[in-house]
Amino acid sequence: MNQKPTPRTVLITGATDGLGKAAALLLAKRGYRVFAAGRSAGKRAQLDALAREKGIPLEALAMDVCDDASVCNAISTVRDRAGEIDVLINNAGMAYIGTVEDMAMADYRQQFETNFFGTIRVTQAVVPRMRERRSGHILMMSSVSGLVTPPAQGAYSASKHAIEGLSNALRLEMYPFGVKVILIEPGYIVTNIQNIAEELLQPYREKVESGPYAKIYSSTFAGSQAGRAKSGTTAEDCAQIMLQAIEARNPKARYGVTPLATLVKWCKRLLPDSQVDAMIRRRYGITRDT
Ligand SMILES: NC(=O)c1ccc[n+]([C@@H]2O[C@H](COP(=O)([O-])OP(=O)(O)OC[C@H]3O[C@@H](n4cnc5c(N)ncnc54)[C@H](OP(=O)(O)O)[C@@H]3O)[C@@H](O)[C@H]2O)c1
Repeated sequence: MNQKPTPRTVLITGATDGLGKAAALLLAKRGYRVFAAGRSAGKRAQLDALAREKGIPLEALAMDVCDDASVCNAISTVRDRAGEIDVLINNAGMAYIGTVEDMAMADYRQQFETNFFGTIRVTQAVVPRMRERRSGHILMMSSVSGLVTPPAQGAYSASKHAIEGLSNALRLEMYPFGVKVILIEPGYIVTNIQNIAEELLQPYREKVESGPYAKIYSSTFAGSQAGRAKSGTTAEDCAQIMLQAIEARNPKARYGVTPLATLVKWCKRLLPDSQVDAMIRRRYGITRDT
């Protein structure tokens, strides 16, 4: 008798909004058993209601990636309810805007605690069983900011460069055990991350408006608005790329998402730093003060 195959279990961090949520819904529709993790109880309740309404195998789960106990509890819950985790998507993240000089140490720490240490915390909790079972996929949410760095995004970009380095090591370390480690590198996609970044900037208002970097901040916002206006790529498009990466027989090490990601990848490969810098300076109107 032909048995229905057991659905593969997916854990997505930061899956109550934006790119993670779109991936959670797509994978659940595709038949994966999805655990969609996030901190906000309200967003989790909304997601559960949506899953019930659509009749898809998705359960929201409380998890703060910055908290050891929370990560440990969430992973135990997934294992109790569904057994092994087949696919981990390290997606939870946030972005600060701020120049290197302006940003407070506490904000640098929070940036890294969420985007980098949070990813390590979840990965370390999931990897041992994947290694022992010699199977699994780990998707790491990077960014074009993990490849190049615009001004006023040093902290965020550094956290994504750190994710690139970590993932490059993990990909090699997992190779003997058949666990696939895949970087996802989106360009600008409209989600809540941009609104949260603006909220996080409030304490810096004075510096932003009248400090020595006011011009750079103003170009950053203008660039963000332009990105919003012309960003044709949606969270759902990004989810499709993640699905493609999970289901590929031989997945690539990294998947770009959005035309900007392709442009950045090629500029980085083909041009010297001086030319990449010149392009960024032109985009941000950065000229030498005389
Ligand atoms: N949108 C873009 O243009 C873009 C481009 C490149 C890369 N990315 C990356 O894509 C990922 C998702 O971003 P997004 O654009 O979808 O942002 P988003 O809409 O703000 O969603 C972020 C998600 O992360 C969760 N989250 C935040 N802090 C968390 C924490 N400490 N513990 C657990 N969950 C946490 C949020 O839920 P709770 O607040 O409920 O916890 C939310 O579900 C991030 O890693 C981001 O850097 C985004």
